[in-house]
Parts: sequence; C-alpha cells; structure tokens
Amino acid sequence: MSESERLIAAARQAAANAYAPYSGFSVGAALLMTDGTVITGANFENASYGLTLCAETVATAAASTAGRLKDIVAVGIVGGMTGEDGAEPVLPCGRCRQVLNEAAQLGKRDLTIYCSGLTGGPVEQYRLSELLPHAFGPASLGLV
Ligand code: THU
Repeated sequence: MSESERLIAAARQAAANAYAPYSGFSVGAALLMTDGTVITGANFENASYGLTLCAETVATAAASTAGRLKDIVAVGIVGGMTGEDGAEPVLPCGRCRQVLNEAAQLGKRDLTIYCSGLTGGPVEQYRLSELLPHAFGPASLGLV
C-alpha cells in the first residue's frame, strides 16, 4: 500500500467517527509521522456551531499532545456528506492550513497533503507551501 493509500484509508476510518450532526458533513484526517505511525482526527461539531473543530485540527492537536508536533510528514484528508457516496476531494480549510503550518515550520519540512472523497474518487496531492504560500508561523517569531 502506498503512502497516499494508507493515509486516505486511515482518514476514511477516522471519518466514520466524525461528530457532525449539524452539517452532516464528515471529515477525517490522518497524519503520517516520521516513525511511520499514523495519528488521526475527525471533525467535532458543537451545538454552538462556531466552536466546531475540523478533523485536521483535531489530529494535529493529538500529535501535539503526544509531544510529536514537529514529526508530521504527510497528511491524508477525506470528506463528504455523511452516509453518502463522496468522490469529490476535500481540501483543508484556511484555518487548518495555518494549524498544519505550525507543525511544518517546527519540523522544518514542507508537508505533503493527500485529499480525496469520503468514500472514493481520485486522490489529489499538494504541498502545504502551495496551499498556504508566504505563511506566517513560528519561524516569523524566531521560534525556529
Ligand atoms: N471541516 C473539516 O473538518 N475540515 C476542513 O478542512 C473543512 C471543514 C468540517 C467542519 C464542519 O464540521 C464540516 O466540515 C462542514 O464545514
């Protein structure tokens, strides 16, 4: 199984546990770490809609909690209407691009981002640097 296939499969598994009763849109994210392990997240909505956390942010926070924020290498993201066939690739929202950039700059590496649909469809491949060019991050504040 290729890196992209592995991450998209893990993201689809995570999306099965999305808590998305308000939007009905399930998203899963899977982070490949430097040691080959995978950390996942799913979107986590709230009755106070604006408090919703995206799948990529949940996964990145889990990596940080494990003390491994700087060890993220690649990301798989899938999304689509819950319970439906979804073949349209989902790309990370602006906030999640910024959240992932924290990890990228700390780890001093560009991230590979694989995007696909909830249940199938093509896998698109991007670099974080093309989705969020000229990023402001920890390097801008002299942290790395
Ligand atoms: N969502 C994500 O989890 N990640 C994204 O990059 C885009 C949007 C979630 C938030 C919300 O629960 C649902 O998708 C619809 O916006």
